[in-house]
Amino acid sequence: MSKFSRRLPHAETNAISAAIAAGAAAGTVVDLTESNPTAAGFTYPADLLARLADGAGLTYTPSPLGLFEARRAVAEDAARRGALVDPGHVVLSASSSESYGWLFKLLCDPGDAVLVPRPSYPLFEHLTRFEGVQTVPYDLEHYGRWRIDFAAIAAAPEATRAVLVVSPNNPTGSYISAAELERLTVVCRDRGWALIVDEVFADYPLDTTSPITDIAAAAADVLTFSLGGASKSLGLPQVKLGWIVVGGPDAARDAALGALELIADTYLSVSTPVQLAAPDLLTRGAEIRHQIQKRTQSNLTRARTITAANPACEVLAAEGGWSAVVRVPATRAEEQLVLDLLQRERILVHPGFFFDFPHEAFIVVSLLPAPDLFADAFARTVRLASS
Ligand SMILES: Cc1ncc(COP(=O)(O)O)c(C=O)c1O
Repeated sequence: MSKFSRRLPHAETNAISAAIAAGAAAGTVVDLTESNPTAAGFTYPADLLARLADGAGLTYTPSPLGLFEARRAVAEDAARRGALVDPGHVVLSASSSESYGWLFKLLCDPGDAVLVPRPSYPLFEHLTRFEGVQTVPYDLEHYGRWRIDFAAIAAAPEATRAVLVVSPNNPTGSYISAAELERLTVVCRDRGWALIVDEVFADYPLDTTSPITDIAAAAADVLTFSLGGASKSLGLPQVKLGWIVVGGPDAARDAALGALELIADTYLSVSTPVQLAAPDLLTRGAEIRHQIQKRTQSNLTRARTITAANPACEVLAAEGGWSAVVRVPATRAEEQLVLDLLQRERILVHPGFFFDFPHEAFIVVSLLPAPDLFADAFARTVRLASS
């Protein structure tokens, strides 16, 4: 049972958890880690989920890879980002977390390894462990922008079966560059690895104008999986809809789709009402996406204005996503800064170590909170961090 012995993926340290609880007991804590769009004051049309009540959902016609109309809607939505996706290469799941689980089952045997970026979202270690798979980190190094450490990739163990890229990455906000993708594809082809590209935040460019997206659709040489989902793309984490676009050489791609069909058939986890509603949700969800895009962009701009007046702190370049990374003076440990913010200002931020930053001191803030709340709390955060 050792796979259950570590702390939960999203858990804070004991000291931070205790301070959060004490702060919550004493009144409100301003949560600058909020990543749930349904709790961030966006306007969701009251009838947005009306299609979930479609009477057609009263009939169950299991379809392991997903109902074709829903898969087609995902493919058509990819065209919005310039990708030509064949609906037959789309697999539906209940979330991108589930998609990961299916891909690790597909690509790995127990004891095998996948390469994962560091820093990144602390989820992969848990998802892999449940499949008996090890994660081997490769660093993203910050030289003005975040770059892949290819030396770490070259040193990957024999047991490696896939490399995982998050583009844009959470929380660094970095997209994979065209040159990096090309280089990584060569390594994957030479070593027989699959490429898993998490593009759940691809709809949220910040400091970039032409990010590469929908990489699986263009894959020629290497078996490639691109992950997306309603939780980020439509701001609807509660509807539980994710998708995988499979790309690569025809034979490898078709074999992967066949095996994924077997895995998906074992669970049949995507509800029929969600699949029937998917075309409508993918169209109408744009309204939420636009609100989130506007909010994340304006909060980032406000964060920059605030740090311009407090140059001891620096908001790092954020190419995309829902977070900003702030370099703060390393005059106290990150955990102590988070505790001080909670106890003195009643503000919660993530310490950099939560995402495995290589050294201190960084904090990570969500760009989702309501603008005035965000600006006030961010200004107080920067003031305390600089003191
Ligand atoms: C980079 C990244 N991938 C995947 C997920 C999981 O998303 P889902 O809600 O689709 O499981 C998250 C969650 O925040 C994430 O940050």
